[in-house]
Amino acid sequence: MDKVRFGIVGVGGMGSGHARAMRDIEEVKLTAVCDVDRSTSERVAAEHGVKGFTDYEDLVDSGLVDAIIVATPHYFHPPVSIYAMKKKIHVLSEKPIAVTVKDADAMVAAAKASKVKFAVMYQTRSTPEYQAARKLVEEGRLGKIYRTMCVDSGFRSQAYYDSAAWRGTWKGEGGGVLINQAPHKIDVFMSLGGLPSKVLAWTNTRRHKIEVEDEASALLSYKGGAVGYYHTSTTEFPNTEYLELCGENGKLVMYEDKVRFWALEKPLQEFSDTTPQMWDQPKAREEVVELEKRESGHAAIIRNLARSILYGEPLLSPGEEGLMSVEFINATIMSGKLGKPVKIPVDRKAYSAFIEKMKRTSKPKRVKEAKRITDPRIGKA
Ligand SMILES: NC(=O)c1ccc[n+]([C@@H]2O[C@H](COP(=O)([O-])OP(=O)(O)OC[C@H]3O[C@@H](n4cnc5c(N)ncnc54)[C@H](O)[C@@H]3O)[C@@H](O)[C@H]2O)c1
Repeated sequence: MDKVRFGIVGVGGMGSGHARAMRDIEEVKLTAVCDVDRSTSERVAAEHGVKGFTDYEDLVDSGLVDAIIVATPHYFHPPVSIYAMKKKIHVLSEKPIAVTVKDADAMVAAAKASKVKFAVMYQTRSTPEYQAARKLVEEGRLGKIYRTMCVDSGFRSQAYYDSAAWRGTWKGEGGGVLINQAPHKIDVFMSLGGLPSKVLAWTNTRRHKIEVEDEASALLSYKGGAVGYYHTSTTEFPNTEYLELCGENGKLVMYEDKVRFWALEKPLQEFSDTTPQMWDQPKAREEVVELEKRESGHAAIIRNLARSILYGEPLLSPGEEGLMSVEFINATIMSGKLGKPVKIPVDRKAYSAFIEKMKRTSKPKRVKEAKRITDPRIGKA
């Protein structure tokens, strides 16, 4: 095999973007697409000269694909992925891998059992900034982390939520900003700072006519005593992306597209315990964080999965690591609704029961004009 034959399930906004991206990835060949909306399937199939399906099982069983990208609304990621995995087809799931931790577990287990490659589209992981930050954390340059913070706000209009029946509903997506817009930064936050063991959240619907939260704040408590703060929203402008990890040996800040790191001359506890001077301050040296030139964005993740299938290249964004963000999202949504702390790992049964209850509160949503257009700002980074 010199090219991996890919199918895409769900070719509305993001899926059609992935189809176009594949034209420039030499390790892959788009061979089939699927969308429950027949006109969308036919249009995208014609645009790329490939076969179009309206049922994902037919695409998986067609013999035309070695791997699929699942770019449907989130609730369909697990059933489509698991069906494909059982048929020995490799899977790249859009984020989040699932709406509930229980379904996410099932995907991870299915991938393991069938020994296929499983990746998640957390394209931020391919950026030079993330790779540099991860290296600092993995090399232990921060030391033991004692405080974390992440603020991630990205404005959305009412027209965005009104563009599809599934958006902004419990039944259609199982949450609001936390499950749809925030997962990329949550993945960065969790994979660098670790999963908290307890979350106390406040969620709110401030600006949009939607059923789900457009704003969330949470206090985090970690095993080992660290504490943290998290905030996300689609209600604020200008947008903010800020992440801070404070460790005994150094401090890491990611702000927009910058990564800054300060190395402490002495571990903080040691300095505090040993300096005899009343007003003495620790010494910290800011290091230049080298950013390597590398391909980033959706194409990098698709190419990486293909190279993993062809040559055994390690996955940049392994599917099982997609479970971390689902844990955090579930804990934050549930804590916000219940008004009390929620532990991580999240109680699988309790969360599934909670989401079923929330789905029953969903009201049918009428959409004047459905739009399947992905954010023009993404795909590049
Ligand atoms: N990684 C990113 O940067 C990024 C960006 C946008 C969206 N997404 C993710 O992509 C997914 C889709 O979002 P979107 O904005 O493209 O939505 P969209 O509504 O524009 O497109 C989804 C498409 O899936 C189709 N569909 C629904 N159920 C299906 C099924 N069972 N089988 C086949 N097709 C089905 C719909 O008809 C629609 O065309 C979401 O999970 C979202 O979180 C990721």
